[in-house]
Amino acid sequence: MNQYELMAKQIEAIAKEDPDRIPVLSNTSALIYDTVTDVNWAGFYLVDGDHLTLGPFQGKVACIHLYPHKGVCGTSWAEDRPLVVANVHEFEGHVACDSKTNSEIVIPIHDLRNPEHPVIGVLDIDSIFLDRFQPEDREGLELVVRTLESVTRF
Ligand code: SME
Repeated sequence: MNQYELMAKQIEAIAKEDPDRIPVLSNTSALIYDTVTDVNWAGFYLVDGDHLTLGPFQGKVACIHLYPHKGVCGTSWAEDRPLVVANVHEFEGHVACDSKTNSEIVIPIHDLRNPEHPVIGVLDIDSIFLDRFQPEDREGLELVVRTLESVTRF
């Protein structure tokens, strides 16, 4: 079992005790921050009307509101696709919450109870290293997000 498969099992166990999004997303951000190497921020932005609002996270104080098509999170949300950014300084409109961040991965989270499966938030992870997130990280973190979608009460 790789670290992301283990994390998915831990998330299932956490949600069994209480599926509410606050404890599940808070503990998921702690699991990622603690176990994925070279991560300086891990957390969630949640859809709040026409913008994203900061949700549970680990790391330095972060931007509170993000907007569609602006920055990595806003683009991933608006286009409903994961984004792996090897060098955030080359991503137009990147929102720099921490100037030390150099690479980033963002994965949209969907509401499976709505038949249209709209995006209800994003998982955002930052690293101070360039090109930190590889295909195996993307695959593993997509498994984590698919698990969150099925066990969390959003
Ligand atoms: N860099 C993000 C903003 C959120 S912080 O990384 C925590 C972006 O461009 O959307």
